Amino acid sequence: MHYGHFDDQNREYVIETPETPLPWINYLGSEAYFGLISNTAGGYSFYKDARLRRLTRYRYNNSPLDMGGRYLYLRDNASGKYWSPSWMPTRTKLDKYECRHGQGYTIITSKVNGIKSSTRYFVPLGESLEIWQTTLTNESGSDSDLSLFSAIEFCLWDANDDATNFQRNYSIGQVEIVDGVIYHKTEYRERRDHFAYFACSEKLDGYDTQRESFLGNYKGWDQPQVVESGSSLNSEAHGWQPIGSHHIKVQLKAGEQKQIVFILGYQENPKDDKFDPPASQSINKKRVKPLIEKYLQTENADKAFNTLRNHWTMLLEKFQVSTPDTDTNRMVNIWNVYQCMVTFNMSRSASYFESGIGRGMGFRDSNQDLLGFVHMIPERARERILDISATQLKNGGAFHQYQPLTKRGNNDVGSGFNDDPAWLVLGVAAYIKESGDWSILDEQVQYENEEGTESPLYEHLQRSIQYTLDRLGPNNLPLIGRADWNDCLNLNCFSDTPGQSFQTTTNKDGTVAESVFIAGLFVLACKEMAGIAQHRNDKAQVDQVENASAEMEKTVWTAGWDGEWFRRAYDNFGHVLGSKENAEGSIFIEPQGMCIMAGLGVENGNAVKALDSVAEHLATPHGIVLQQPAFSQYYLHLGEISSYPPGYKENAGIFCHTNPWIMISEAMVGRGEKAFDYYKRINPSAREGISEQHKCEPYVYAQMIAGKDAPTHGEAKNSWLSGTAAWNYTAITQYILGIRPTFNGLKIDPAVPADWDGFTIKRKYRNVTYLINVTNPKHVSKGVESVTVNGKQIKGSMIRAEDGSGEVTVEVVMG
Ligand code: GLC
Ligand code: GLC
Repeated sequence: MHYGHFDDQNREYVIETPETPLPWINYLGSEAYFGLISNTAGGYSFYKDARLRRLTRYRYNNSPLDMGGRYLYLRDNASGKYWSPSWMPTRTKLDKYECRHGQGYTIITSKVNGIKSSTRYFVPLGESLEIWQTTLTNESGSDSDLSLFSAIEFCLWDANDDATNFQRNYSIGQVEIVDGVIYHKTEYRERRDHFAYFACSEKLDGYDTQRESFLGNYKGWDQPQVVESGSSLNSEAHGWQPIGSHHIKVQLKAGEQKQIVFILGYQENPKDDKFDPPASQSINKKRVKPLIEKYLQTENADKAFNTLRNHWTMLLEKFQVSTPDTDTNRMVNIWNVYQCMVTFNMSRSASYFESGIGRGMGFRDSNQDLLGFVHMIPERARERILDISATQLKNGGAFHQYQPLTKRGNNDVGSGFNDDPAWLVLGVAAYIKESGDWSILDEQVQYENEEGTESPLYEHLQRSIQYTLDRLGPNNLPLIGRADWNDCLNLNCFSDTPGQSFQTTTNKDGTVAESVFIAGLFVLACKEMAGIAQHRNDKAQVDQVENASAEMEKTVWTAGWDGEWFRRAYDNFGHVLGSKENAEGSIFIEPQGMCIMAGLGVENGNAVKALDSVAEHLATPHGIVLQQPAFSQYYLHLGEISSYPPGYKENAGIFCHTNPWIMISEAMVGRGEKAFDYYKRINPSAREGISEQHKCEPYVYAQMIAGKDAPTHGEAKNSWLSGTAAWNYTAITQYILGIRPTFNGLKIDPAVPADWDGFTIKRKYRNVTYLINVTNPKHVSKGVESVTVNGKQIKGSMIRAEDGSGEVTVEVVMG
């Protein structure tokens, strides 16, 4: 069943009913100021850090679903009837409804009794504010007398504190209302130098800033007493719950239209210039007044919106494909790459499944997010790499997470996830392959953000490699530590106490449990490192990593190969996991993908064997599950993985992040058909027709789809913030369509369904635009017969990176 449709021309997803199976959301903002917005205008805003600088309040796990957002109310003053133009929170029946989610903006349009309302929400580039542009049109045929009310609920900045520390919070709320602008300034009197403001383009007929005055005691957002009565109380919040609500009376003749603009913004003042006059307690507003004045004017708001649209056109232009498959085209050209930008910005912090107060930015997550983002804005990827590596520990290890606001490692979670450092090598390699910027390796970067520890990024990579070598177990495989990629495979945590963290409770000494997955990742990281060292003519380093990786490969074949697939791990007792010997958890997806991506078994046929085992044991029509058989009970020695009921999350769920590893592996062994088949199974656009079952947004990937052991098989959860975005983008663009950046240029290596006649790609790469036309006259699924660059056939299928900025045409014939 469909709840909307793709408008590919406008790069929008158009939702046609407010009653989607779950709130279908979008993101506003791209640099510092961000918002989440659902198809019924639910959600919240924050500045940089969803925990520490939350502007508006949102209650997770609420009922009704998705209550709290950027709300408007319209009231027909003649009849007293009122409604929400975004359906929530009044849920009044709408004669028409449409929500358009685009890149960084959302437009919600509806109609009731001939009054049409359309609100466009977005954040102008470079600003710390959001604009709501509302257009009201009277299509009723007669004149109307309307009231428009806005409503937001302020958060007292620290979202965690805001949701828990009521004995204090109920007494600290403060606002100022000056010239019709509502300023939220809780804690500004003391140590905070920042405030929020909520402004409107019209002269106000009233306002409210105290929640219970606006709503009425014991009443909800669906029937605020102020909206019911049609007049604001001009309440001023002292403690309790500060909100922002404007009231504007609008007379619209038949056929008349009016535009009203609201701005919600965030501002910081210098410590010594907080108050105006200086001896007073009132906010110095001189920095925000010009902004308010500017963006409340429709022309300026329109201009800012067009700039945002053009910005995205420019970003998306960098990679455009035209293949025989519509789901592929729209995901690659628009939605997948947009999701990559969002995951790059948010990591795993704020979505409708991530509360913004839990996890900061993950070390391994951020390194993987780069993969799908780096071609869009390489400079920001560069900055991110330097930020991440500055949190690296001196022993080469990593803080598992860091806070985006402070850019410091998070001590609560600490380190000891033994795969983490290797991902830095992959992230840096991806950056250099894309940009050709070798100078990043010479950047001086601190360890543990400690002054005086600066050393070249290159050395950070060396220490990352060394970290694994310093931690080998009884079989010479890497020790797993707290967990590897699979956060829930906790082999050194024997936890029998409810509430204990599986990730941070380590009660075994960690000298036995080993990971075959890290072995594969290590081999891959060594290959990247060898490429990097080669370029620097560091022969000693090349030899060292080549030997280390050859050694590790040998170890994998002796201790990590099970006969028909790669094993997963050895537990704290030295028993194998992910082997025929195991009654449960006998085959896992991760080592198959990672070992084959590292090249293991590609030559000797074992890769194909492992992939056939994946097809036989793990593949379902909804994607590939993480392992089989699922764990039927909790196992003390395995940790969180066995805490989930079978079919969910890491216990045999379809953990979508890992599926592209198999797509890539299939492409590497030349089976384009299979690679693409797996790609389509989890492609959200291809699943649009089963939205009632899939439940999450059809325009972005979800972290997980319930596996075959779950009663809800096929149902997705955790949409948006997942490594799934970057890896699917990598799989389809670099391995299936096969246009792959390397250290020296673009490798052309497609692996596609044999019935494709061909496809075209426009790809900006290091300032040159490559117009690539691939034909497939012999209908093969892999293999390149010839590559012609600007009319001249080249040897092989590697297009050397060109200097300059022109266009290069490339003719590729498969065969
Ligand atoms: C989550 C985490 C990621 C981890 C994965 C598997 O997506 O963010 O770091 O690798 O789960 O446990
Ligand atoms: C939970 C999730 C996993 C995530 C981890 C982070 O275990 O299942 O996906 O990575 O928490 O702590």
